[in-house]
Amino acid sequence: MTELCHEGAALREACERVRREGGRVALVPTMGALHAGHLSLARAAREQGADFIALSVFVNPLQFGEGEDLGRYPRTLESDLEACRELGVDLVFAPAREAMYPDGFQTEVRVTGLTQPLEGEHRPGHFDGVTTVVAKLFAKTGRCHAYFGRKDFQQWRVVERMARDLELPVEVVGMPIVREADGLALSSRNRHLSESERERALGISRGLRRVHDAWASGARDAAQLTALVRREVEPTSDKIDYVALRSPETLEPAGDTIDAGVLLIAAHVGQTRLIDNLWLGVDARP
Ligand code: PAF
Repeated sequence: MTELCHEGAALREACERVRREGGRVALVPTMGALHAGHLSLARAAREQGADFIALSVFVNPLQFGEGEDLGRYPRTLESDLEACRELGVDLVFAPAREAMYPDGFQTEVRVTGLTQPLEGEHRPGHFDGVTTVVAKLFAKTGRCHAYFGRKDFQQWRVVERMARDLELPVEVVGMPIVREADGLALSSRNRHLSESERERALGISRGLRRVHDAWASGARDAAQLTALVRREVEPTSDKIDYVALRSPETLEPAGDTIDAGVLLIAAHVGQTRLIDNLWLGVDARP
């Protein structure tokens, strides 16, 4: 049975009870509009030994900038709950905005270096919103494993850094990207794509697949690898925010010739901003 709760105290009590009885708690933080990518996180949590899975659904206003899509972000709590029931998630935590940010709230959790490039350049303040809400979720959940998708590669690294720096009793786990059969990385924002935009959006995963294949054949030149993505995405997207080859640990430029790296991309198709990445040498197939 999946319990639904709206108050942090209920989440805290449920997690404490599980731990008192010797059980392991997993947290899957989401903004709802659940898709197979989110569900793969809950499934992984169970397979990796969680006795109790809490999944949070909260469209966090702090992480949306002016002019971004907070207003049109999909809110689908009923179908999210149904999906959680089918999967055996134990508790869905869906707080109201006032419960997370009551009157007088004035604290921000900020990771510095890792948040500066890439998404940080294009969405100033975004990660401060993410780390603030995730810190609150971690505080309520307590000792746990917390699952994040690697589609938001930079977010995963930032949250991991925050947990380490603040010595939180949370093991941050990053799980592989889940894709549609044709390669499109799953995202709650995909539902905004029209049929023709969706077709164009495939340029992103096609570009990453070219990089995957080139890498497999021994290509190590950073400029050559990023050019492969640009060649696919420039004609199919409306705007590219970045195509960048970075160190998977520090997110600093990976150098001219690389032996490890993550190729990250953010591009707009119509009104929808999409991100994707390929962790070279780790991701089997984009
Ligand atoms: O990845 C997301 O859905 C959000 O950024 C998160 C981690 C749930 C924080 O609001």
